[in-house]
Parts: sequence; C-alpha cells; structure tokens
Amino acid sequence: MKQLHKLMNLPLIPKVAIAHVPTAIEPMPRLTAALKGPELWIKRDDQTGLAMGGNKTRMLERFLADAQQKQARSLITRGSLVSNHCRQTAAVAAKFGLKCILVIKGFPPRIRQGNLFLNQLMGAQIVFTEGRCPDKVLLETFEDAQKMGLNPYLIAYGGAHGLGSSAYCDAVQELNNQGGNYDIIIVPTSSGATQAGLIFGSWFYGLNTQIYGISVDESSAYLTDKILSLLENLQTLYQLDNLPDRSLIMVNDDYLGDGYAAIGDREREAIHLFAQYEGILLDPVYTARAAGGLIDLIRTGKIKSHEKVVFWHTGGLPSLFEMAESLQ
Ligand SMILES: Cc1ncc(COP(=O)(O)O)c(C=O)c1O
Repeated sequence: MKQLHKLMNLPLIPKVAIAHVPTAIEPMPRLTAALKGPELWIKRDDQTGLAMGGNKTRMLERFLADAQQKQARSLITRGSLVSNHCRQTAAVAAKFGLKCILVIKGFPPRIRQGNLFLNQLMGAQIVFTEGRCPDKVLLETFEDAQKMGLNPYLIAYGGAHGLGSSAYCDAVQELNNQGGNYDIIIVPTSSGATQAGLIFGSWFYGLNTQIYGISVDESSAYLTDKILSLLENLQTLYQLDNLPDRSLIMVNDDYLGDGYAAIGDREREAIHLFAQYEGILLDPVYTARAAGGLIDLIRTGKIKSHEKVVFWHTGGLPSLFEMAESLQ
C-alpha cells in the first residue's frame, strides 16, 4: 500500500466522547501456540464501555453529536432481533435523555432475551416488522415520530454511513499509535461500516496492513459494492480528491454457513478456543463467525505462519447468553 499521509491527520469529525478508548490491543500467545499459526493479537472493541460495548459505540459518538446539533429528541434505527447496533443505540439514547425507537425485523418472541431484553430494559420503544418490509416500517415510524414532535434522528442500518465509518478511520490511527505493524486485520463485516472505516483509515495513514473482512451474512459482491459506496461517503465527508482503490476491499463470504445467526461447528469451535486458551468471550453471531473463518484460513495455510494478525473483536456479548443452549 502506498505511504500516503503519515504526517497528516484526517479532519476531526465532531463527536460526543462515550467510548472507553483507546481499547486494549493484546497478544494471544496460547491461541497462537494451539493453532501453530501466525502471531495473533486482539483489539478489544468488545470493551468500548457502554452497556456491554462493541463496535457501534464509536460510531454512535458521531451520530449523537450530529443528532444534538440538529436538536433531535429521539433516535430511530433498525436491526435484527439480536442486533447489537440497536442495543448500543438504546444505551446512548438512555444516557443522553433521548427517546429511542427501534424497528426490529420479525415477530415479538415469547421471551425477550439478550439484546432484545436489554433494549427494553434501557427504555427503547420497539416496533416489530411482523412480516412487513423493514424499510417501509422504518419510514412510517419516522413519520409518526415527526408528527408527534419527537424531532427524530435516523441512524442508518448498522450505522452504515460515512459518519459511522469515520469512527473506524480514527480507530486505525489509534491502533497505529499503539504500535505493532500488523500484516492483516481480520474483522467481521455485515453492514460494511466498520470495514469501510478501517480500509479508508489504513489507506489514508499509509499502513501496510491488509483489512480482511469475513462476511457474517452477505455475499462478497454485495458487500464490496456497499463498502465502496461507504468509501465514497468518506471521501465526501473528508473532502479528499481521491479514495482507496476497490482492489483494497477484501471480503470473504466462505463462512456464511446456514445463514445469519445460525450457529455451526466453526462458530462453536471458535467460541470454545478463544474462551479456553485466552479467556476471551466471542459472540455467536458476528465475532465467532469471523474467528471461525480466521482459524480455517490459518489451518489451510492461506494466512502464513510468519504473518502478524490482529483479530478485531467487535463485541456482541449479550447473544452468547441468549444462545448458550446451542453452544454446550
Ligand atoms: C458484534 C458485531 N460485530 C460486527 C458487526 C459488523 O459490523 P458492520 O455492520 O460495521 O459491518 C456487528 C454489526 O452489527 C456487530 O454487532
């Protein structure tokens, strides 16, 4: 990768400081030895602080600043029944005295557990789509909130918007300041927001680090296009003349298994290995899928033993308890 802007910083995007950053970067020597693989490190964005943390907290710092600037009285977003993005949005809304309305895809379950339980605990209003088109329900919910004088601020699905991704441009700089020179960063990717920020940041700051996304639920072709459009959003946000080349977008969709939130052998093994060798808890939906992919890439020699790898832990802890039955 070209050494671009080692001495320059990206323009600062207004944010409300919420996340506990810098998050730790830790070696995983026992897992490295067990896999007889490359040197493995972990970036602890599962520990960003608010209501069990996770990658969306960094993004929400920017959305909240924008919402406050627009004098919003409510935050609205959408997600799945197990969405961590929704849980972190509910937490931010609770902390800053805003109403939170979550459009959740699906029907209300008999018992509310995991993230869904926490959303409710933190006072979010939940609108289930019950078979209707989520975007249509979102629009209706937004219009209703407007009519009620709630001055709603809409946060894109997964925070996938230049503002959200900009948080991960800054996170690259944070990792860079922590030292280390890594060859590869492995990150779970779903809306593409996190990966887009990491790609843009590492391109801008001239790191020689490959940003390798392991898809949780979408095809590589779909996510590549989505990430490219997020890179374009970032270029506009930062008012730059150029942007990272499409060839820098690496998304592996080999590990989709039986689909979103379906726990398979790979996820189960990854959860057990990280827990038993490092005392690190992965979530079954996102990070276990990416870690299962990482383990396979090591075993099949696609990641070489001389490489230095960071696994970017993006959080998701509440789902571990919700899905405990499938993990025993
Ligand atoms: C725990 C966790 N990891 C990874 C992701 C994927 O991040 P992104 O949507 O930015 O691709 C999510 C998305 O919600 C998540 O909750």
